[in-house]
Amino acid sequence: MTSSTSDAFESLLSSRARVGWGVSVATPRPSMSALYEFGGGYPDPASFPYEGMIEATADMMKAEGAAAMTYGEPQGYRGLRELICHKYDLFEKMKADPENIIVANGSGQALALAFGAFVDPGDVVISEAPTFSGSLNTIRRHGPQILDVPVDDEGIVTDAVRERLEGLRRQGRRCKLIYTIVNFQNPAGPSQSLRRRQALIALAHEYETLILEDDAYGELRFEGETLPPLYALDTGGRVIRAGTLSKILGAGVRLGWLCAPREMIPAFQGFLFGGGVNPFMSRVATYYMRSDMPAHVARLIDIYRGKRDAMLRGLDETLGTTDAVISRPQGGFFLWIRLPRGTDQKKLSQLAVDKRVQYTPGPAFYANGGGEDHIRLAFSYESPEKCYEGARLMGQAIVAARAR
Ligand SMILES: Cc1ncc(COP(=O)(O)O)c(C=O)c1O
Repeated sequence: MTSSTSDAFESLLSSRARVGWGVSVATPRPSMSALYEFGGGYPDPASFPYEGMIEATADMMKAEGAAAMTYGEPQGYRGLRELICHKYDLFEKMKADPENIIVANGSGQALALAFGAFVDPGDVVISEAPTFSGSLNTIRRHGPQILDVPVDDEGIVTDAVRERLEGLRRQGRRCKLIYTIVNFQNPAGPSQSLRRRQALIALAHEYETLILEDDAYGELRFEGETLPPLYALDTGGRVIRAGTLSKILGAGVRLGWLCAPREMIPAFQGFLFGGGVNPFMSRVATYYMRSDMPAHVARLIDIYRGKRDAMLRGLDETLGTTDAVISRPQGGFFLWIRLPRGTDQKKLSQLAVDKRVQYTPGPAFYANGGGEDHIRLAFSYESPEKCYEGARLMGQAIVAARAR
């Protein structure tokens, strides 16, 4: 865009659009120049069920034709909302009712609906540091003060949340939302322990705030025990849960949702046009997932576990003798690496470009600075062979990027 183009409209932007204006919003697409795409959390294109989706589209059109091609229910196609409840029951033993679900354009939009409903400029949001960079862009757009809390092996550090909430209370202020990624946290990898989940809910009650629970990867558990969602543990209506089909069906279907207390749904619905989000695709996805979900997810788990192991092998072989700390997530898409002490990130960035390895530098995941000594690698997109080769190249680049 030329500056004269932006001159013509910048002074007319709404105050909401001005918040965060100029902060880059990355387009989530794999890089064309990278030979090893470890940057974004892109699902594996080879895992997409092409044939199954063709069949599901034909079956759906035969069964529902005209209904699929007109405006739908404002909360989203009921069949999909039922399927989401079935999925919750199947994978997490969580009970929800279709009336608790509102369908959105991916969980990215679902999260934006939650921030839109509760966050005004100047309000306070508590967020994990590090956290998903895409959510940070969305949060910033709503203009709150973002207070960081750290993440450790058990997920969000609830003692730090308490300190933040207590500090706010002393100032006569209140946190609007605590945003947390509960399973295979993006980027750091841990899943929140049960005691932390319980502590977080107790804090939300004590300090009269809400929790926005983001779970984009929960079904992709390679090992370890599935823990109950915050939404299921809470009995007081303080949790909003975001989910998505992006990682288990395809990011291009753009179907995500919020699961929330029924009385809260209109607060989100008001931001959507009346015809519901994508009734056509909702039906296709429902027809496919209805018959094939458990088998398809089981296939995905095998695929992504193999990639994680291949990437870890490549990193262990090249970084095993350094003081790098490499996460070993039990699921999801990402590895989080604390670089060896003394690594020069600028040099690393150049060396990775030379080797055509794409990765995400740590600072992208911090609202208020930090992360200079970390990087995130996604193992989701490339084949296991390329995960291994690319990880070796990245490991070599990290070793070579030591400041002398
Ligand atoms: C933690 C987390 N939340 C939400 C999303 C958004 O996904 P989508 O909008 O494709 O559903 C992602 C995508 O990478 C994610 O990692």
